[in-house]
Amino acid sequence: MTIERTFSMIKPDATERNLSGDINSMIEHAGFKIIAQKKIRITLEQAQKFYDVHKEKPFYNDLCNFISSGPVVIQVLEKENAISDYRKLMGATNPEQAEAGTIRKKYAISIDQNSIHGSDGIETAQREISFFFSDIEIVG
Ligand code: CMP
Repeated sequence: MTIERTFSMIKPDATERNLSGDINSMIEHAGFKIIAQKKIRITLEQAQKFYDVHKEKPFYNDLCNFISSGPVVIQVLEKENAISDYRKLMGATNPEQAEAGTIRKKYAISIDQNSIHGSDGIETAQREISFFFSDIEIVG
């Protein structure tokens, strides 16, 4: 097992409902270290760039509008096997399909307002971490 870092974003539907603390508690109880964290407002242009892998998808415009509609908490999480373990902790993208005990099962409203984002692979994690955290040194 290798120590990995993954990127996490608590989305506007969750910050709006004051769920950042509860979600961080689930993250920490699952053994992740939150080694960097910022609460920010993402511009529409940043959202479009961040999610450009989805730009041909029918949900792209709604997704970018939603992500830029309110504050988000962006994070770097560290743990053995962090990338796939965090995807398990988040649960399925569509909360109707998410397993009990996952963040999305507990808090997500819909597939669009699904409370949390996490990187889907090693290269994505590197890209997403440097997209938002290039300005600070992450000491762990
Ligand atoms: P996220 O992990 O942030 O990655 C892209 C987001 O697009 C996803 O979570 C969902 O919130 C949103 N989305 C909306 N519709 C779909 C869909 N059909 N498939 C995948 N993602 C979707």
